[in-house]
Amino acid sequence: MARRGHRSRLRNGVSAASVVLIVLVVFLFFRFGDKRTKEPVIGGAERRWSSFDASVKSRPTVEYRNGTDLIWQIPDSPKAVLFIAHGCNGRAANFWDRSSSCEGCVGLPEERLIVLEALSRGFAVLAVSSMGRCWTMGEERTVVGEIIEWWVVKNGLGKLPAFALGASSGGYFVSALATDLKFGAIVLMIAEGVFDQIDVLGDYPPTLFVHMPKDTRRKLKIEEFMVELKKKGIDVAEVKCMEFPLSPNTLADRIPGLGNDVSAELFKIFRREGFVDENGYMKKDGRAMQWKKVLDVENKATLLDKRLINHVQEELNLAFAFHEMTSLQSEQIFKWFESHVS
Ligand SMILES: *[C@@H]1O[C@H](CO)[C@@H](O)[C@H](O)[C@H]1NC(C)=O
Repeated sequence: MARRGHRSRLRNGVSAASVVLIVLVVFLFFRFGDKRTKEPVIGGAERRWSSFDASVKSRPTVEYRNGTDLIWQIPDSPKAVLFIAHGCNGRAANFWDRSSSCEGCVGLPEERLIVLEALSRGFAVLAVSSMGRCWTMGEERTVVGEIIEWWVVKNGLGKLPAFALGASSGGYFVSALATDLKFGAIVLMIAEGVFDQIDVLGDYPPTLFVHMPKDTRRKLKIEEFMVELKKKGIDVAEVKCMEFPLSPNTLADRIPGLGNDVSAELFKIFRREGFVDENGYMKKDGRAMQWKKVLDVENKATLLDKRLINHVQEELNLAFAFHEMTSLQSEQIFKWFESHVS
């Protein structure tokens, strides 16, 4: 992992053609795929929490440095490095399941699947917690940049291509960090980046926006920034994440430790309360729903293990598809990284 120098990279016809192809495929997919149908139109929504084979295990190392915690895992024969930045209120512990190697880990459903996907593809994964609730662009940027470089060297990963993925606040952070460190490509999830505040040169890494178009304000910003980045010769693409309907087993399918019976009971309550429409779609963002209150009022607090409340919340937000971490597009995300291994 090197600091960025003044590389002048030649854009060749092949990479331009592949960008056109990706954009075309994404366009066609959503042009014909985004009509509301009974079938979810997202890639991999059917993926269960348990769908990785036993060789891919959550076995992280937890370390403290520069006043924050870093959690990481390196697979056998790593082929690349992935730095992940969470969103506001997030932390590194959300990305790995609770285990003897990380008692404080939380294993949120989307975060854990991103990490398992990364490990299964040979990415060494490093997640760092922000010092405060959200990431900040001043000293924290320097500190985290140094942590990443130190960690890469310490673990003998300096020769591998490095990538970064940031969600929401982490997306803004990664978009800025990419001017300090040399990443092979980045993914900005539900974030337009801080392209109006940083100096983007021609060697800025290929950038994939994974966003939820229902969030119109961000969608418009992303459209604007994509045009600007393209003008500077930077590879850009987008993946649009659409809402999908819940079914009685969705929560059980996505959340380890949440049984089919609890999943079906919660779904029944959501339907009855009108949180979910007759086709299973969330009517509002999960955060705007008083679903926890309903459980309390009905003395159903014991129905759901308290430690899984945030897990359920995340899946409800995801189904509404306005602003949430998502692993459903992992295939596109990792293809983006893998197609930019130079
Ligand atoms: C981070 O911690 C290391 C080791 O304790 C220290 O050498 C380094 O100066 C710190 N970096 C910053 C920016 O504080």
